[in-house]
Amino acid sequence: MPDQYAVIGNPVAHSKSPQIHAEFARQTGQDLVYERLLAPADGFKATIEAFNARGGLGVNVTLPFKVQAYGYATLLSERARAAQAVNTLKFEDGSVLGDNTDGSGLVVDIARNLGCVIAGRRLLLLGAGGAARGVIKPLLEQRPARLVLANRTPGKAIGLAHAFGSGVEAAAYAALAGRQFDLVINATSASLTDSLPPLPRGLFAQGSLAYDMMYGKGETPFLAFARAEGAATLADGLGMLVEQAAESFLIWRGVHPDTAPVLKLLRHTAV
Ligand code: ATR
Repeated sequence: MPDQYAVIGNPVAHSKSPQIHAEFARQTGQDLVYERLLAPADGFKATIEAFNARGGLGVNVTLPFKVQAYGYATLLSERARAAQAVNTLKFEDGSVLGDNTDGSGLVVDIARNLGCVIAGRRLLLLGAGGAARGVIKPLLEQRPARLVLANRTPGKAIGLAHAFGSGVEAAAYAALAGRQFDLVINATSASLTDSLPPLPRGLFAQGSLAYDMMYGKGETPFLAFARAEGAATLADGLGMLVEQAAESFLIWRGVHPDTAPVLKLLRHTAV
């Protein structure tokens, strides 16, 4: 019987994680199976426990369960604590280890796959929900010149910035007028509804990178705006997805797969 892993979410049918982990397992010669677990909105704990009872060793957690997974874990990594959310659970010796590989997946994608240095650069992060919170600590660890957090509801940006200390500055969208950034990351859910945060013009510095954490939506309104505004590089969140999966695989299996061929494969099979 191969070792069992899964992604748990609702909905989960669209998840690319089974394909990604199957590729990682093939590449590294690991004997495992990886399935999708659709949990009812009020059935996260029961679904996880049933999976664990039939031998499951770990799960990736996707929307809307990342905060519940944080509460379910009995041991938390420092980055999971900072994110207050968990995307990776590992069942080990009666403990449930909770980690969050989303932020590090983003940083690896930006730094290695896209070749963009974060240290010393001006960063703008859009949004103040769970997706934004999950990436702040790993971004700060790269020592940007500054990290500005902008949100439609400014109070939420202020509260979140406060939680991370003096390294993060909160701003309303209108207050960004006249400022420039080297890296602008869209962590809002606006792309889901084909909408765009109310960004002023002139935000993108010369040679800047525009990054939308969303993937599979083609050119989102944010990326179209960035293109029109002269951003030098445009990226969607597919690289982040593959990199966070690789970090989860490392946690479970002790080996870091080569992400480049898997990312290439997904780009070619994308609809
Ligand atoms: P997630 O877990 O994906 O971050 P969330 O916690 O619901 O989801 O947060 C969604 C984020 O996207 C919020 O920052 C939200 O802004 P508000 O706090 O003002 O609601 C932001 N958002 C969603 N739609 C948006 C839009 N059309 N324009 C600007 N911001 C938007």
